[in-house]
Parts: sequence; structure tokens; C-alpha cells
Amino acid sequence: MAVVVPAAGVGSRLGPGAPKALRDVAGEPLLVHAVRRLRECPSVGLVVVAAPPADVATVQALVPDAVVVAGGAERQDSVAAGLAALPPDVELVLVHDAARALVPVEVVEAVVAALQAGALAAVPVLPVADTVKQVAVDGTVVRTVPRSDLRAVQTPQGFRRAVLEAAHRTAGAAVTDDAGLVEGAGVTVVTVPGSPLAFKVTTPFDLLVAAAVLRG
Ligand code: CTP
Ligand code: MG
Repeated sequence: MAVVVPAAGVGSRLGPGAPKALRDVAGEPLLVHAVRRLRECPSVGLVVVAAPPADVATVQALVPDAVVVAGGAERQDSVAAGLAALPPDVELVLVHDAARALVPVEVVEAVVAALQAGALAAVPVLPVADTVKQVAVDGTVVRTVPRSDLRAVQTPQGFRRAVLEAAHRTAGAAVTDDAGLVEGAGVTVVTVPGSPLAFKVTTPFDLLVAAAVLRG
């Protein structure tokens, strides 16, 4: 199973500093933790990392067993660059955020199992813990959204390669995840159990949480 790892983001919500994938967490860059976790997965073979264009050489030195390509301006562009680097014989692909560096092996393998069982697309999800409300532009509540119908979506997201590539070719306005692209094309996306450990490092608080998890 090949994995495309979008890692080209600047990490603006972390505040000033190195690109997110190169930020230190418990003594190593976030991306190194992410690739190590993927390498622990029995199904994972080829790993393709989309790096910040200015840092391709740095990233290649950090993850010598991965293919490193230059990412793009939007996450979608970085994923497209990674897909373009896959050998022709790759039929199933995972897309996994470098920022979800602590994803458990079981989550990766559950996505892989769904693909191997015939799903065209599969995503890990968690129930939503907070009550969710729709609000108007003035900040007042419009309504409470029934929470039992909602799921928070994580990565890795898995696809038949041809399905994801076709969705990328016809992609319109920015979609925040890859499954969103194939949903737009009418493809059924199946869900598998996600994990709190697959959280996305987004804010400085998340960096502290990731370091605490890694230190046990
Ligand atoms: N990503 C990417 N190329 C981009 C933007 C994002 O490869 N042009 C990657 C990030 O490196 C990250 C994943 O997509 O692994 C999820 O994106 P996000 O958490 O939003 O990371 P950033 O865009 O770096 O953070 P921010 O939005 O705070 O700037
Ligand atoms: Mg972003």
C-alpha cells in the first residue's frame, strides 16, 4: 500500500517558526514521527512525502526511505503532487496528514482493510463529543445540529487510486479533505473507527499534547 503524506503546509496556526512538519516534538521533527508510525504498519510500503518546496532536500535527509516531492500552495495541490509521483502499478493509496503524526497502527490498518474488502474510499471517524450549533453571521445561534448524525473525520483516508485521481482532475473549489473530492463525484465513502491519537497538530496546545503522548 502506498501512502501520500501532505507535509507542505506552513503551520500558520502554530505561530511563527519552521513549517509545521519540521517543528520539533519530543526531540524530533513532527514528520519523522509521522513516517515512523506509518513504517510500523504492516500494509504500508511506498511512502511519498509532499514537502515545503524550499525544504525538499532537508526533508529527504530526514526521511531517506521516502520519496520526497515539492508540495503546492494548497493541501489539494500537495496531494496531487504526491499522486503524480506514484508508480503506475499502484492501485490503492492512502493520504495521510503529516500533522496527524501519532495515528495508531490499527487505524491505518482498518482503512486498508476497508479498501481490500472492496471500498472505493474509506475514512476514519470519531463521534463528536461537543454539542454542535449552527450560528448566524452575528454570532447568535440558529439551531442545534443533532450530534448523533455527525462524525469528525481523520486521516489516513484510503482510495482506489483511479477514483481519487479522477476526483482531483475534476476538483473545483477548495475541499478540506480528499474524501470530500470523491463524495462530490458521487462515490460512496465508508467509515472505520478513528482514534483520539490521530488528532491533527494544529495549535501550540496540540504540540504540547503530542510531546506529552510521545513521552508517555
Ligand atoms: N499541507 C500541505 N500543503 C499545503 C497545506 C497543507 O501538504 N499547501 C498539509 C500540512 O502539512 C498538514 C496537512 O496538509 O500535514 C493538514 O493541513 P493543516 O493542518 O491545515 O496544516 P497547515 O496548512 O500547515 O497549517 P495552517 O492551516 O495552520 O497553516
Ligand atoms: Mg492549512
